[in-house]
Amino acid sequence: MELDDCAFPLLDSVVSTADTDEAFRGANWSLLVGAVPRREGMERKDLLNINGGIFTGQGEAIARNAADDCRVLVVGNPCNTNALIGSTAAARHGMPKDRWFAMTMLDENRGRSQLASKAGVPVADVRGLAIWGNHSSTQFPDAWHATIGGRPAANVIGDEDWLRGDFIADVQQRGAAIIKARGQSSAASAANAVIDTVRNVAHPTGETFSAAIPAPAHAGYDVPEGLVFGYPVRVSDTGSVEVVQDIEHDQFARSKIEATTNELLEERTAVQELLA
Ligand code: LMR
Repeated sequence: MELDDCAFPLLDSVVSTADTDEAFRGANWSLLVGAVPRREGMERKDLLNINGGIFTGQGEAIARNAADDCRVLVVGNPCNTNALIGSTAAARHGMPKDRWFAMTMLDENRGRSQLASKAGVPVADVRGLAIWGNHSSTQFPDAWHATIGGRPAANVIGDEDWLRGDFIADVQQRGAAIIKARGQSSAASAANAVIDTVRNVAHPTGETFSAAIPAPAHAGYDVPEGLVFGYPVRVSDTGSVEVVQDIEHDQFARSKIEATTNELLEERTAVQELLA
């Protein structure tokens, strides 16, 4: 009803259905927001068993019914591993896994906002903040390769302890803080990050942005192939999504990336039977 009431000029019609075959028929983009949301005190891992199962059915329905060029953005948590489950199920029906994404743009936006506030600059001045790994409390927001007003963010901020400590912790825990503040998980900021992700993929500008994708073979950074992993990515002229290469990480960054990789491997082990 509210979609109709917005009188969006580009919204032709809405189909409301619980039949996944009907829902995904002909879709060019499938935005998988439906999942049991995290409540206060829960970690995303607690949702694995509750939500993992529904992504098998959705992956199969997308592969059977969606348009040949369909891309899928998983938002429902734990989104990386839900995307792994859905893309694996879809691949059994012939859909390439590289059309699947899990959302880390919300974390990038959260981190950019924190950096802008600390530096006292407009958020548009903060660019290139990559989110590595899982959309969870192990993610690594890499301020050391971001820029503020064209200068290295770490130089502008000038407070290494804050960057390594509160900055990372606040971005990692922001989802939990929102849940605590409003009694429900993020809604408007998550929807906004969906729009940012789709726009970045569908209308490439050459800019780097954050998205989790099935780790390609030889993508580097010691991530096992196939794990749905958050990277800085860029869309090529031909529309393919590529991991930004040759980023040098120091020991601190490598340890953070290893920790979030290990968490994703644990999640993969926990849902192994859904991937068989
Ligand atoms: C968020 O980051 O706000 C959402 O993914 C909700 C959550 O579970 O953290």
